[in-house]
Amino acid sequence: MSDIESVLNETRVFPPSTEFASHANVPSLSAYQELCRQAQTDYTGFWKKQADEHILWHKPFTNVLDETTPPFFKWFDDGELNVSFNCLDRHLATQPDKAAIIFEADDGAVIHLNYRDLHTQVCQFANGLRSRGIKKGDCVVIYMPMRIEAVVAMQACARIGAIHSVVFGGFSAKSLHERIVDAGAVAVITADEQTRGGKNNPLKATVDSAIALGGADSVKSVIVYQHSGNKVPFDATKDIWWHTLITGQLSECEPEWVNAEHPLFTLYTSGSTGKPKGVQHSSAGYLLGTMVSMKWIFDYQANDVFWCTADVGWITGHSYVAYGPLAMGATQVIFEGVPTYPDAGRFWKIIQDHKVTTFYTAPTAIRSLIKLGPDLPEQYDLSSLRLLGSVGEPINPEAWMWYYQKIGQSRCPIVDTWWQTETGSHMIAPTPGAVALKPGSCTFPLPGIEMAVVDEAGDEVDNGKGGFLVIKRPFPSQIRTLWGDPERFKKAYFPEEIGRGKYYLAGDSAYRDNDGYFWIMGRIDDVLNVSGHRLGTMEIESALVASPLVAEAAVVGRPHEIKGESVVAFVVLKNDRPEGEEAIKIINELRNWVAKEIGPIAKPEEIRFGDNLPKTRSGKIMRRLLRTLAKGETITQDTSTLENPAILEQLK
Ligand code: WTA
Repeated sequence: MSDIESVLNETRVFPPSTEFASHANVPSLSAYQELCRQAQTDYTGFWKKQADEHILWHKPFTNVLDETTPPFFKWFDDGELNVSFNCLDRHLATQPDKAAIIFEADDGAVIHLNYRDLHTQVCQFANGLRSRGIKKGDCVVIYMPMRIEAVVAMQACARIGAIHSVVFGGFSAKSLHERIVDAGAVAVITADEQTRGGKNNPLKATVDSAIALGGADSVKSVIVYQHSGNKVPFDATKDIWWHTLITGQLSECEPEWVNAEHPLFTLYTSGSTGKPKGVQHSSAGYLLGTMVSMKWIFDYQANDVFWCTADVGWITGHSYVAYGPLAMGATQVIFEGVPTYPDAGRFWKIIQDHKVTTFYTAPTAIRSLIKLGPDLPEQYDLSSLRLLGSVGEPINPEAWMWYYQKIGQSRCPIVDTWWQTETGSHMIAPTPGAVALKPGSCTFPLPGIEMAVVDEAGDEVDNGKGGFLVIKRPFPSQIRTLWGDPERFKKAYFPEEIGRGKYYLAGDSAYRDNDGYFWIMGRIDDVLNVSGHRLGTMEIESALVASPLVAEAAVVGRPHEIKGESVVAFVVLKNDRPEGEEAIKIINELRNWVAKEIGPIAKPEEIRFGDNLPKTRSGKIMRRLLRTLAKGETITQDTSTLENPAILEQLK
């Protein structure tokens, strides 16, 4: 299982420019190495120093790391703080008038909100929550449009010590129900409707349907933000308008001081099987992870305009919208809509209009914008940009090159950030003033993060060999447990079968090249076995995307009598989906292309074209479903969490 082979051969290297490095928080390779050295020599001392420097403590901690009951680690656990205080109050004396949020609505309307006013909104809403009897330790589900109020709701929960659980506004009543019940939520915060891409979608009605499914008696309040103004069902025994709730509330709200380990939030990730897992994060360790990564990886500078395009329904929207940027005192853009409305130039227009300096998005967005408008970026002034980021999936080298040249104009480093809902903040990513970039590699771990590629026994494999990606030591922002299910937590992340339960198992396959760079090869569950060669999905897909014809690709294995598995590729072309003779011609071209780029071993036996690929709502390709299709079987899995379930029919 562990001898996963690497077949990709990417040789381009982009060292940091002197100009970028001269202003960077980590200005040289030796500065980066020095931070790593400090962490290696005195691990807890290193993290103690970071926690003292970055967090405002109500009661200082004396314990740094408690490892007595692995894998249930505790950080700074006799300290007390409040996360919302750390994100807002700390800026009131120093920069109350600085814009905290530049909000752009779906229809283009813009609101600038400074730190003073954001603080006021959070305090009033927090007081409103308290007036409904919501208190420390209670769970609150947030099911909101991507608007300022979503951040206000999260921050207000943090302020009173309530544990929020944000559910992405695109999820169905069934998914919402499952999460409300598992969390035992006492309240749901929602809006009448949300607007994306010019269309209104119901939120309140979906909350009602979810509660009507039963077993959600814990919910005593449904707080409804009035956004569209369209009429929605209203049950005065538990529903209350947001504006009614905050009427007459004071603009100050004494924060609830909580223990460092107090759960800040849970966030559900759909495991590949079974019910979603409620990933539980801490207060202090989590906050610290978001702050050091803002500094080291996003190279945060006081005059930055930071824009992370992720919805608050995902971990990326927690760490790099709701918490990290605010804790650092940044100005950030929040955008309600979608990248393709009114056209595929929307992102580039927002960058131009708000003079965005730091832009962070997902490979899936980049690939679809390449398909929909490869030349649109040229119509906008992107000169404000100084740093680009990528997250969520491996970024194929060709998509990286387009991003680098067309968006970053060969001037901006790209930070390819590897991390997970469970890690809370970046784990492997370049410090952009220090590390030379290689397209497709997330480069090196952050200082204080010990990553390795190991075999089944947990022994490190040689450079050039693929294996399991693991994290060797506990780190502050890591998952604490799965909500209500510590046994499942242990089994899923510290399994005996791989690494003998010693290490945090990420579930990804990876290798390191001869310079020690990390390359993610895909999820372990997706690895193919062709004629005894174990191949990750990323490299074959990247070879396909490197063809000038291809916009996106996904490969899966299909059982094969002789080879074990054969490669089946699902491909989206930059042009329209071909048919007949034309399709056959392109299939042959692409099969030969892969054979030439990688070798005959990876040559797809079959290629199918689609207008798109099946994706989760956070943009990840669902290869599990493609495997079922490739085998010619009917899909029995739940497809309601897909962004585009209809595409399955076409790919059949
Ligand atoms: C994948 C998102 C390659 C990986 C923050 C991981 C990546 C999973 C990258 C976590 C990257 C995320 N390069 N793969 N830069 N970033 N992944 O929980 O498979 O939504 O395990 O967290 O996404 O996804 P999640």
